[in-house]
Amino acid sequence: MRVVCLISGSGSNLQALIDCERHGQLGTATLVGVIANRPDAQGLKRAESAMIPTHVVDHRSYADRLAFDRALIDVIDPLKPDLVVLAGFMRILSDHFVEHYKGRLINIHPSLLPKYKGLDTHQRALASGDKTAGATVHWVTQALDSGEIIRQVEVPILPDDTADSLQARVLAAEHTLYPSVVRDLSLGVISPCDA
Ligand code: GAR
Repeated sequence: MRVVCLISGSGSNLQALIDCERHGQLGTATLVGVIANRPDAQGLKRAESAMIPTHVVDHRSYADRLAFDRALIDVIDPLKPDLVVLAGFMRILSDHFVEHYKGRLINIHPSLLPKYKGLDTHQRALASGDKTAGATVHWVTQALDSGEIIRQVEVPILPDDTADSLQARVLAAEHTLYPSVVRDLSLGVISPCDA
């Protein structure tokens, strides 16, 4: 299963995928390309260290969302992906892009969806007095953070948590969750969906 990963920043989830592939824990999945929308995304260095081809499609170079998404597709399609993995990719994608990769596009979001779509998920969980937080992997559809849920992981919220401490705990859990989903998709343990 050919996997293309889209990132915007640190790329720690990408690193978790790289590490699992290296240790034979990613099923039949192979990372064939990493694309960032920012030239300074740290995750690009992680990909380069793992000898995975990288590309930058800088969103600031395009007039609008559709033009950017068409340029992204022009880079992604030659990589012939079976799965496109959004790993901290912080751009909202156009309907055109989502439709193009329908059924092969997944995202990880740092909350227990359907709670806290969008940004500032950890602050919002704390402000609501929640006892647990977590992360969700879901199929991407045109409505933001609303596609069918594939798998979630839950972590406790501790009494003296800050948004930073909670984020760190959720992120650590993401690093197990995301590779498990990619592996199980590659092995057919999780079925593809119509999105
Ligand atoms: C992760 O927590 C991921 O869930 C979140 O960005 C972080 C990326 O970290 N994604 C979103 O908020 C998407 N809306 P990473 O670059 O270290 O993998």
